[in-house]
Amino acid sequence: MRDSFGREIHYLRISLTDRCNLRCIYCMPEQGQTFLAQAPRMTDDELVRIVSLTARLGFNRIRLTGGEPTVRPNLTLLIERINQISGIREIAMTTNGMQLEKMAEPLARAGLKRVNVSLDSLDSEQFALMTRFGKLDAVWRGILAAENAGMQPIKLNAVVVRGYNENAIADLARLTLDHPWQMRFIEVMPLGSIADFQMDSLVPVAEMKERIESALGPLEPLEWSGHTPHRPYRLAGAVGTLGFISSVSDPFCAGCNRIRMTADGHIRLCLLRDDEVDVLSPLRRGADDEELLELMQASIFKKPWGHGLSEKSWPQTSDMSEIGG
Ligand SMILES: C[S@@+](CC[C@H](N)C(=O)[O-])C[C@H]1O[C@@H](n2cnc3c(N)ncnc32)[C@H](O)[C@@H]1O
Repeated sequence: MRDSFGREIHYLRISLTDRCNLRCIYCMPEQGQTFLAQAPRMTDDELVRIVSLTARLGFNRIRLTGGEPTVRPNLTLLIERINQISGIREIAMTTNGMQLEKMAEPLARAGLKRVNVSLDSLDSEQFALMTRFGKLDAVWRGILAAENAGMQPIKLNAVVVRGYNENAIADLARLTLDHPWQMRFIEVMPLGSIADFQMDSLVPVAEMKERIESALGPLEPLEWSGHTPHRPYRLAGAVGTLGFISSVSDPFCAGCNRIRMTADGHIRLCLLRDDEVDVLSPLRRGADDEELLELMQASIFKKPWGHGLSEKSWPQTSDMSEIGG
């Protein structure tokens, strides 16, 4: 499936739920967050049907996200079902890791190949401040459980927020000296009701690199396919790698190969643009596969070129947790 710019789009990120067991400061407002009721959310059957249709359009990679995907009931069974869809090559998940210690093994058995775990600091107080109720030791045990369950590569995501964790960057980068993990540092993006706070808190990737290099020595750039948002680097002698996601200061829109599906069954063509196409309503009205395929194909073809943050207009309607990060 190609969009009108000739980009091959084959990667679907699905928000399994807008609910989360944490309230990270860069993701959700402290108060006033509203959540979907049960009815507008895609059921497992609906979700499996939509994934099967995208597989017919050539999608082969699925990422489960949210909200927090591990709070969705019957997740293991859902992954087993997605894993049986012909054409789906890889199922990955982005999680805060709070429940991974007990879930990693069954999820891996069901067909989950990889996890990205959010890890914003190695200091438990700083971690708790950023996530509002996160427990660093539980997440750490979750990461080790995922590794023991054979998920690889383990990717760790730190969103860097000015005044909160820019002093944690070097310690997080140091993890790659001893662990074969990918530690990725993410520029905070503006979305929804907390966009002003997010833009005021931006730490550009250039500064993140400087902080790492002054503490740990030069970063060696590694080959980059252009299709992943992170640009990879390695520290001398490290067994793991580092990545930087500069969505704001240096976007990678030209290499974008993804679309998102929100928990209420809307295709979101670009994380940072509000245009969405409702697939769930026609599905519930009884649309047949051909009709849905046509709708999806026509929508994906219109994927916008770039996120347009340089135009200084931020998406207004949804917070990150609602779209599926
Ligand atoms: C929305 S979360 C959902 C999955 C899961 N709950 C987690 O914590 O990883 C997915 C990813 O989005 C990132 N994220 C959330 N808000 C962000 C923002 N404003 N800018 C950049 N990344 C953000 C998170 O750090 C995480 O890596």
